[in-house]
Amino acid sequence: MLQQLEQIQKQASEELEKINDPKELQLWKVRYLGRKSRLTRVLRSLATLPLEERRKIGVRGNEVKNILESSLAEREKILEEARIASSLKYKKLDVTLPGQPLSVGRLHPITQTLEEICDIFKGMGFQVVEGPDVEWDYYNFEALNIPQEHPARDMFATLWVDAEVGSGKARLLRTHTSPVQIRLMEEKRPPIRVVVPGRCYRYEATDATHESMFYQVEGLAIDKNITMADLKGTLVEFCRCLFGEERKIRFRCDYFPFVEPGAEVAIECLACHGAGCRVCGYTGWLEILGAGMVHPDVLRRGDIDPDVYSGFAFGMGVERMPMLRYGIDDIRLFYGNDLRFLKQF
Ligand code: PHE
Repeated sequence: MLQQLEQIQKQASEELEKINDPKELQLWKVRYLGRKSRLTRVLRSLATLPLEERRKIGVRGNEVKNILESSLAEREKILEEARIASSLKYKKLDVTLPGQPLSVGRLHPITQTLEEICDIFKGMGFQVVEGPDVEWDYYNFEALNIPQEHPARDMFATLWVDAEVGSGKARLLRTHTSPVQIRLMEEKRPPIRVVVPGRCYRYEATDATHESMFYQVEGLAIDKNITMADLKGTLVEFCRCLFGEERKIRFRCDYFPFVEPGAEVAIECLACHGAGCRVCGYTGWLEILGAGMVHPDVLRRGDIDPDVYSGFAFGMGVERMPMLRYGIDDIRLFYGNDLRFLKQF
């Protein structure tokens, strides 16, 4: 029996050496390691042998089995490598085939607008900073001269985060970027010159001109001798950069509790050039931002002495700018994630 095992091993190895085809390899496997192979038969017959022989032949039989299995694996590997090498050698490269296009991403139109606005102010020496979306009642209202029962709170349909609505300690989703004014005054000493881009939230039904989430850019400048003329000069320059040299700009009185005096800035309608049309509600003007001189009480709350320093602030809606510029008539398009719309910018 031992002799038989030696013979099986020799014959199997010799045959294996010559195999170059996976199908033949499979047949070899059945022949020498299969259930009906000679080797299997030898191993199965062990039970009928006397103990001494059983041990000797059993050990050798298993050795042979292991050798055959590992040679098989080795042969399989060699054949696979050869297959890969030959497929690379014969595969031709057709350099005339069109390349695979790289799909290039783009910035969202609102992101583009934010960058454009901030770049204009950076050119005038403003720094860009940000503040939190979830804000304390104190920063969003109280510190801005809008105490709990103040009617100006009606201007802001507020989304509250905490249940203690209206107390200074309740949290909310900021309704404008103005709370960052106070945070900045608490943190920095004048001269301060910053713009703050950011998301704002209001509890409003959405329609063509209202979204419950939108963007604003806030501006704040505080130094000695800052006057309304600085505010006007800065905003006129900004409007010219964004809407063109020729654009007419209008300042009118407006009221915000945290500025005094307060103003509203409008530009000549981009659609009708002041003649009056549907876009401007037949007024010829488009309001684009609120502004004013920082109220002395607000400065005081930021620990800045209003007898020494003065400042101006402004806040603008961002979505309006591309809407006016490109004639987009529905604000909801910006956040609908429709690629057909977004790919145009
Ligand atoms: N925060 C005001 C708003 O959202 C705009 C504003 C900012 C007005 C700064 C004056 C000064 O309507």
